[in-house]
Amino acid sequence: MKFSLNIDHIATLRNARGEVQPDPITFALMAEQYGVDGIVVHLREDRRHINERDVRLLRELITTKLDLEMAAVDEIIEIARDVQPELATIVPERRQELTTEGGINVIDNINHLRNTVERLHDAEVPVSLFIEPDINQIDAASEINADFIEIHTGKFANAISEEEIFDELERIRIAAKHAKKLGLGVNAGHGLNYNNMKEFIAIKDIDEVSIGHAIIARSVFVGIEKAIKEMIQIINRA
Ligand code: PXP
Repeated sequence: MKFSLNIDHIATLRNARGEVQPDPITFALMAEQYGVDGIVVHLREDRRHINERDVRLLRELITTKLDLEMAAVDEIIEIARDVQPELATIVPERRQELTTEGGINVIDNINHLRNTVERLHDAEVPVSLFIEPDINQIDAASEINADFIEIHTGKFANAISEEEIFDELERIRIAAKHAKKLGLGVNAGHGLNYNNMKEFIAIKDIDEVSIGHAIIARSVFVGIEKAIKEMIQIINRA
């Protein structure tokens, strides 16, 4: 299982003062030195954290890979076509939300998403769709030629009882296996942290996890190097 780091919240902190520190680009380059497999950023329409300058600098400077999370809207699709990240992950986006709250509904938006996938493919950008662990959504993602899915792990991360945790893990396990059978790459993310990853690593069909908040929060206490290496150690135990 690979591990990409979402650095949005370094930009959140920078933007809190409207100045240049802490610089997300420097953070990304340091994270690469400490062993992450890729850098993830979400370029939101409202630019509340990552901005276009960040995306373009990351494109130039990082040596792992860039996963650009984005809504399926014209402005951002055009930026993605120009920047050509290694992966564009399509997420639902609501202005009022604190973070991405759920997976995208591929079935209900199939024509628009088919067109979005085509436009990104025309620019040689592979596409991932951020969806719930739901077989019908996965089938729809495959039907419109997505290259990857990213399974939304929020329900698993928020589960409290043993039974609920087991059920959510089972749902993700079945979904990941189904997606693999269809030839899709399988990523996962949202709410994964140092505790729940110990259980999550048991799921074999996940190619990569995308983790942000837990790592950024821990790095405030123990530093970037330790925060990243602790997570890599948990993943490598699998
Ligand atoms: N994957 C996607 C598609 C996301 O939108 C997010 C949140 O920005 C993450 C992963 C990372 O979630 P977290 O910050 O909770 O680790």
